Amino acid sequence: KDPRIHGIKARIRVVPDFPKPGIMFQDITTLLLDPSAFKDTIDLFVERYKGRNISVVAGVEARGFIFGPPIALAIGAKFVPLRKPGKLPGQVISEKYVLEYGSDCLQMHVGAVEPDDRALVVDDLVATGGTLCAAINLLERVGAQVVECTCVIELPDLKGRERLNGKPLYVLVESH
Ligand code: PRP
Ligand code: MG
Repeated sequence: KDPRIHGIKARIRVVPDFPKPGIMFQDITTLLLDPSAFKDTIDLFVERYKGRNISVVAGVEARGFIFGPPIALAIGAKFVPLRKPGKLPGQVISEKYVLEYGSDCLQMHVGAVEPDDRALVVDDLVATGGTLCAAINLLERVGAQVVECTCVIELPDLKGRERLNGKPLYVLVESH
């Protein structure tokens, strides 16, 4: 395991009972306060994805917008935001997904991703995997190839990895 990962994990603040009782919230804002640990995070992703012919980084609103763009710039890929409903002004395609309570939806601009694109999906955290699954579906519906999904943190007990239709998932930190 890369020695930088320990420092990254140490900067993620775990907040019990947020936003509701029983949830151990994984707060990446404390990681962002440490420029060295934040840089290590981006560098580890860039080292993994450089030279893999990835043409698009798709970031999931909101926290995927923090980690996705610096990776995209460093590997020379375009960045495409996958947004919550009603935020994108152009024509969109939509993908609903189920949450612990209720459902939500991600939207992507039509034409932003093309059939010959090779995509990396970026978010801060995978819990149940519902969000990443919706992101994969959006990209595959327009014909793109999803090379991998990547997050800073995985909650492996929730088995989100198993909901990704066989797509590989790479994470830096596991939290139990
Ligand atoms: C959180 C997190 C992931 C998602 C993971 O986002 O940032 O995007 O949940 O959960 P899942 O694997 O069970 O789908 P959230 O929807 O809370 O919103 P935010 O990123 O806009 O803060
Ligand atoms: Mg999110």
